Amino acid sequence: MTAPGTSRREAGDERPDGGTGARPAAARATGAAEEARRLDRAVAAFTALYGTVPDGVWAAPGRINLIGEHTDYNDGFALPVALPQTTLAVARRRTDGRIRLHSAQGDGRVTELGPEGPAPGAVPGWAAYPAGVHGALTRAGHRLEGFDLHIDSTVPTGAGLSSSAALACAVALALDGLHGLDLTGPELARTAQLAENAFVGVPCGIMDQMASVCCEEGSALHLDSRTPDRYRQVPFDPAAADLALLALDTRVAHDLGDGAYAALRAGCERAAALLDLPALRDLPAAELPTALDRLPADLAPLVRHVVTENGRVAEAVTLLHAGRTAALGPVLTAGHASLRDDYRVSCPETDLAVSAALAAGALGARMTGGGFGGSVIALVPAGREAAVAEAVTTAFTTAGYRPPRTLRAAAAPGARRLL
Ligand code: GLA
Repeated sequence: MTAPGTSRREAGDERPDGGTGARPAAARATGAAEEARRLDRAVAAFTALYGTVPDGVWAAPGRINLIGEHTDYNDGFALPVALPQTTLAVARRRTDGRIRLHSAQGDGRVTELGPEGPAPGAVPGWAAYPAGVHGALTRAGHRLEGFDLHIDSTVPTGAGLSSSAALACAVALALDGLHGLDLTGPELARTAQLAENAFVGVPCGIMDQMASVCCEEGSALHLDSRTPDRYRQVPFDPAAADLALLALDTRVAHDLGDGAYAALRAGCERAAALLDLPALRDLPAAELPTALDRLPADLAPLVRHVVTENGRVAEAVTLLHAGRTAALGPVLTAGHASLRDDYRVSCPETDLAVSAALAAGALGARMTGGGFGGSVIALVPAGREAAVAEAVTTAFTTAGYRPPRTLRAAAAPGARRLL
């Protein structure tokens, strides 16, 4: 999901060479220095705004999902990776119950709430997320103080890279830290999800929040959405296999709040009910053909996608554990075909990005995230990043589309306290 007005696209996030996870030591040192300066700027902004230093700074990343799309709300499986781009939550606890919210990517205004906290749907725009996290924690029985908050994010918005989850998770972690709640990763993820579901009004699953909180550097997160607490890390190091992961933002605004996502989710729930199953995750692949015969024509393709996609996650995990990273390529491409033809959440731009990347030598490519625009990932031989990015750009220009943006994609760490 996308947090409105909370993120800006910074030049530093995009690498014209089609950045990879395998950054040389010098580039990593430069990256660390840039991050330190960014942290200083965010602390200085908080201090200038509120006239006092913060109690701490917390960071939560955006994500890409390698495979396992539209499975989370069907109790299924996913394999996301945290991105290096993060949302910073700079915060200080207050003693009068008041909440003050400001974003470097907002309109400059400070949103103020009284000690009664937010009512669901009452706070508009980006501020609904932090207000919702406060509301979700209160609803869970935590007695919270007020707080002052300044947000600064490098997670692109509208790119299907979970800027909303990064925002909500950074705030959940900040409130946890300010109040010493000591919540577990999955508890923080559930809090952030509840903020989106109940206070923002978006019926998302838990994949984005779990990725933002629980991912680890150099790993993909093997998530079973029925039992998020039992997540596992799967080593993901394309560079070790002479490969690179490319992320291309098609710049087609991705917004799942418009009802299409909710309709798909409702369709899956209806199909599960017709099949007399708790969730589509409970349909074994061997029973898929019989199940499809029992379903109306509009629901059958949704079910086929979910069941085959869960299978692709299992296959991807097996391949990664076996060190067969290159063999992941066809699995990604099959996932895209399923999202395009069965789930119908791709669009001409994502389809073109995938086909152009494949034609330029990518081993596999797919849209990532909820769809209807957003970003495409491609697994490419190391050294081919720029050529593949360029081929996609040329294809876009020829088709009359705005050129895509290349993002640095690497298996980065999950949410953490920085200061
Ligand atoms: C969005 C939602 C997630 C998930 C994906 C599709 O990102 O927030 O919960 O459903 O779409 O896999």
